[in-house]
Amino acid sequence: MQVKTQDTRHEDILDEIMDGLKNSPKILPTKLFYDEKGSQLFDKICELDEYYPTRTELKILDDNIEEITSYFGDDCVLVELGSGSSVKIRLLIDHLPTLAAYVPVDISSEHLVYSAESLKADHPGLKVYPLVADYTKEFALPIINENYKTVDAFYPGSTIGNFTPEKAIRFLERVANTCEKNSGLLIGVDLKKEKSILNTAYNDSKGITAEFNLNILNHINALVNADFDINKFSHQAFYNEKYGRIEMHLISKENQEVQIDDEVISFGKDENILTEYSYKYSLQDFKKLVDGIYDVEKIWVDDKQLFSVQYLRAV
Ligand code: AVI
Repeated sequence: MQVKTQDTRHEDILDEIMDGLKNSPKILPTKLFYDEKGSQLFDKICELDEYYPTRTELKILDDNIEEITSYFGDDCVLVELGSGSSVKIRLLIDHLPTLAAYVPVDISSEHLVYSAESLKADHPGLKVYPLVADYTKEFALPIINENYKTVDAFYPGSTIGNFTPEKAIRFLERVANTCEKNSGLLIGVDLKKEKSILNTAYNDSKGITAEFNLNILNHINALVNADFDINKFSHQAFYNEKYGRIEMHLISKENQEVQIDDEVISFGKDENILTEYSYKYSLQDFKKLVDGIYDVEKIWVDDKQLFSVQYLRAV
């Protein structure tokens, strides 16, 4: 199995980090959560009682798998964007007997290779073309040496909510262009709901989400030669009703200076760094968001209307 890598240049990452930290308020790129440790912490979050999205999405997929997979064409190539969710993809693959190839795309290479290899071990005949790439930017699919009819995408977990709506639109346009004409997109979209459920989901009692949030600083230390001390920051997450989004921040516990590459950045006591948005949508909001890029062909929701899985078709 050959792993293709579309490298992000070190200078680009450094520029993104510095631009964000010189912004007011300070902001860090959400994708930097996902080094090896961050990906493992995210897997742990997905198993928490308080974090309803993963198990709810999985149940929706499980309950409706025959109908869901009937929307994919025969002999399709399935591109999974952010391939952490091995349980979900296994469910799809088991119900797509004519699948021509599977293309997992992820920014974290260790995680990607590990999941792709274990999937291949269980499905020896499956053609897997792993691609290490930052799929939030322009990326090209690997050359697929198989006979296939369509290229469809799978974007589970409501990761779409981690983009602002403007960036989500640009991202969906890129996905529709990268896949082929009339391609399908099976996407998980978290729904608006009672605020207390949301606040609890991002402030779990075991502190795993806090660890995940703080780990972004360790990742940056390793990436760009910085000296963040994670003990000098604390986790904050809350639902911002006006914008319909969870916001995650890191709060500086004291006045401090941090060396990053050859620059020094100052943080005041209680100053915050925005690390993540997680937008929640109503079904109508989401239909409006994708309008002109995708048609919503079918929506599945759970009994409590916490989460939706949607099959979209590029227009
Ligand atoms: C990956 N993404 C959809 C998660 C979310 O819920 O926005 C990331 C996460 N952040 C904190 N907990 C989980």
